[in-house]
Parts: sequence; structure tokens; C-alpha cells
Amino acid sequence: MLDKVNELIGEVSNFNTTSKEELEAFRIKYLGKKGILNDLFAEFKNVANDQKKEFGQALNTFKNTAENKINDLRSSLEEAALSGTALNDLTRPGEPLKIGSRHPISIVRNQIIDVFSRIGFTVSEGPEIEDDWHNFTALNLPEYHPARDMQDTFFIEQNPDILLRTHTSSVQTRYMENNEPPIRTLSPGRVFRNEDISARAHCIFHQVEGLYIDTDVSFADLKQTLLYFTKEMFGKSKIRLRPSYFPFTEPSAEVDIYWGLETETDYKITKGTGWLEIMGCGMVDPNVLKNANIDPTKYSGYAFGMGIERIAMLLYQIPDIRMFYENDVRFLEQFKSIN
Ligand code: DAH
Repeated sequence: MLDKVNELIGEVSNFNTTSKEELEAFRIKYLGKKGILNDLFAEFKNVANDQKKEFGQALNTFKNTAENKINDLRSSLEEAALSGTALNDLTRPGEPLKIGSRHPISIVRNQIIDVFSRIGFTVSEGPEIEDDWHNFTALNLPEYHPARDMQDTFFIEQNPDILLRTHTSSVQTRYMENNEPPIRTLSPGRVFRNEDISARAHCIFHQVEGLYIDTDVSFADLKQTLLYFTKEMFGKSKIRLRPSYFPFTEPSAEVDIYWGLETETDYKITKGTGWLEIMGCGMVDPNVLKNANIDPTKYSGYAFGMGIERIAMLLYQIPDIRMFYENDVRFLEQFKSIN
């Protein structure tokens, strides 16, 4: 009997097949209800008592060998069925993974940073929740200064000292406090104004502030820098500086670029003049330098500030500022090819 079982064990371990049907027949033959294993178990009672232990062990080995064999063959059959299909075909084109795109605000911000970084400006950031000093007072806008009304401020919890910054000029103040001249910094960021939302204005938008402080910085340096910027950014090389007023700069100017009057859109956006306003700028007011402990008799500087949405609207002919914040993928997907 024992010999017979050992023979069967050998038989089972040598079995091999590449056919599902043969494997199933094998299972039925050895492990099925009326299979060999059950027959052998039935014979157990006829085995002499002193051989029962050895016989029982041999039966278990037989059973395990058969079961393992079946499992092994089953998995290699499954593997074989998969090979030759998609998973193993390395020449198959990849799954079309949907890649996202940068938001147009990020694209334009990065372009502006890129242009200025080539002439030595580094990026700095400041908090969106500001105090009165950094957003107003240090920038030559003391309490009751009428120009504060120009900036419809969101205050936090009725505390007149804590507010959402109304412009990124607040980062100027912080940067000057913590760095010695020469200073060349660019501060992009989000700003907040309590304004009605329309196609042209939003209560949350983005600005980039520029600040340059050194010995002998002149208005001519400012103009040359702006000319360089408009050439790089828009491919336009005609600008004009219109006298204007900002409390933190003296003299102050608004920068227009000559956009041209070639298309109907050009007429529309320039109101028929060909000129477009793109930013404010000026020579840093000596009071602002003093407030930051920079000696205005030794140093001078220029500053400028522009709205990123406005620049993006011009570059990509976006008619409504609200489109930036709606997250409509049909809008966002149009910026896929741009980095
Ligand atoms: N802070 C101004 C604003 O939000 C923009 C600005 C104008 C910034 C002139 C400047 C500047 O640095 O020199 O409207």
C-alpha cells in the first residue's frame, strides 16, 4: 500500500500540462469525490495498526503534492494566458494620461519673474494678512491720508490695524526692513480690495511689485528697465510715462505701451488711442526709505507695480477677469501648450 502511495506521489509531481482541460481532468482523477485520494482514505481502515501512522503521513504528502501541483499549474496557465495580451506588449502605445496645465496667472507671473531675473531681480514674498504699518503708514500713507480711500480695504474683525493687503507694495516695506541696499527684488502675490466684481475688476487679484535701491539710481534707469520689460514681455518697444501720483513714489508715473491699432480688438482695448496702461511706477519717496532706516541722502531707488490679471488679459485677449477664477476647464485647457 505504502509503495503504491509513494508511486502516486511521484506520478503527481511529474505531471505537467499546458491545457486547462487536462489540468481539470487531473484534479478530478486524484482529488475528485470519486478520485484516488478518497479511495485511499477509504482503505485506511484496512491498514495494519502499526502502519497507520506512516500511511497517514504518506497520504497527507500525496494530498499536498497534488494540491500544490494544481495551484502551480493553474497560475502558470493564467500567466501564459496574459502574456501576448496588452500587459506584456511593450510596443503598445501608452495610456493617454491627461496632463494638466498651468493657470494663466501662474504662466504670466512666471514670465514676469523670468524677465526680471535676467537683470538681477530676486523673488520675495510677504504675508497676505498685513498690519497698517506695512500696507499704509510706512509707505507714506499716514492715517487720514486721502489716498487710503483709493484702496477699498478689507479689515479683519473690525481691527483697523489688521487688514488684507491691498497691494504688494507692502512687501517692499518688509524687504527694506530686512535687507541692506543694493536691493533688487520682485514681489508677486495676491491682493484684496473691497470692490464690486465686474468684467474688469475683482475683489481678489494678483500684483507684482518691483523695487530697486542702490546709490545713484535715476529715473532714466527706471525707464530703461521698463522698456526692457515691455520688449521682452510683449514684443513692443514704444512706451510712455505719464505723470501720476502715488504716495510712496516721487515723482510718480503711469506706464503706457503703444499696442498699435491694427485690429478691431486693438481699437476696443485702447479706446481708439493705440495706447494701453500697464503699471504704476516712480522713484521711491525719501520718506519711505527713512521709514525703513535707509539713508535717503546716500541711496535712491525706483519701484513699480502691475496687475498680473491685466497683463494676462492683454497677452491672451481674455475679455473678462472673472474667467480666471471660475476654473472652467474649457478655458484652462487653452493654456496647455504654454509653460
Ligand atoms: N501699489 C500700487 C497699486 O496697487 C501700484 C504701484 C504704483 C506700485 C507705483 C509701485 C509704484 O511700486 O511705484 O495701485
